Amino acid sequence: MPGKKRDSLEPVRWKNGALEAIDTTKLPGRLVYVRMRTVEQVCSAINSMKVRGAPLIGVVGGYGMVLAAMNLGGSDLNQARSQLRKSADALVLTRPTGVNLRWAVERVFKASSRVNSVASLGDELKLEADAILREELESAHKIGRFGAALIEDEDTVLTHCNAGALATAGYGTALAVVRSAVEQGKRVSVIATETRPLLQGSRLTAFELARDGIPVRVIADSAAAQLMAQGVVDKIVVGADRILGTGHVTNKIGTLPIALGAKFYGVPFYVAAPVSTLDLLTDVSRVVIEERDQREVLSIGGRRFAPRNVEALNPAFDITPPELVTGIVTDRGVVRQPLMENIRALFG
Ligand code: MRU
Repeated sequence: MPGKKRDSLEPVRWKNGALEAIDTTKLPGRLVYVRMRTVEQVCSAINSMKVRGAPLIGVVGGYGMVLAAMNLGGSDLNQARSQLRKSADALVLTRPTGVNLRWAVERVFKASSRVNSVASLGDELKLEADAILREELESAHKIGRFGAALIEDEDTVLTHCNAGALATAGYGTALAVVRSAVEQGKRVSVIATETRPLLQGSRLTAFELARDGIPVRVIADSAAAQLMAQGVVDKIVVGADRILGTGHVTNKIGTLPIALGAKFYGVPFYVAAPVSTLDLLTDVSRVVIEERDQREVLSIGGRRFAPRNVEALNPAFDITPPELVTGIVTDRGVVRQPLMENIRALFG
């Protein structure tokens, strides 16, 4: 359906004085919102992955600061700011790997220096959080437009995890590229890796693409390289949780083996992300890889498959080195090799 705008999901919204976000743990069965009125509820929604995906966590974290400000009592501004600092630190700790959360929370915290009364903190911080939501949605559409130029008619695009509307303010990053190409009239079909352990690919990517009428097939994560070997995959587009100045890409666990396969079989491997995902300061050795609960690996859908006495390792992210990346699609354009030089030229 060329020309049709594919923005139908509203993953996050402010409604009647509360924050609402689609509870992705209920998908694809039920499309329901989790309602948050306190910063503790925001932390818990992020921790439990009701809300996930780096850009969306950033937006939601920003509103978490608004809720923290709105719930402050007293009239001492210094005391209020130190309370807000604690809320900011608690939010950032919920998901340590993605950089958008820290970026958004610090940006909203900074807005607290613009007010001269505790009573006006909530409104001032909300202006900043609203601006982040608006800007992130605009970025998603820009990423889509830049990325669509890389996609040809009849391409089969493989993607990993969910870098779609459900991971962002709307429209997506990797899936923005697909959506935009489809809006231009290109016939694109998607291969979605199921993305163990939490199945963001089969539950969320497949859900939102099928909802938009974009052809999608789900594969076991371990099938990706074989499909590349068979020549079934034309392009790979994934999202990112943190992109370093060197071009190292941190993304959902399982991205690195896909990138390695892509290099071996000569399949272009693109990463799509907004500027809020860039971290030009941190060295690769200092990126914290979130280690999640073992039960996510030992069980599927709450049913345990591994024997009782066995333990698991559950790193939630991996780091793809720059030499495996063909290009990074940002809201300011496509960064090509050499990544480090070109990231510096565009963002330095
Ligand atoms: O653990 P998740 O589901 O939050 O991981 C999400 C990813 O790795 C996404 O690819 C990334 O956040 C980019 S989303 C636009």
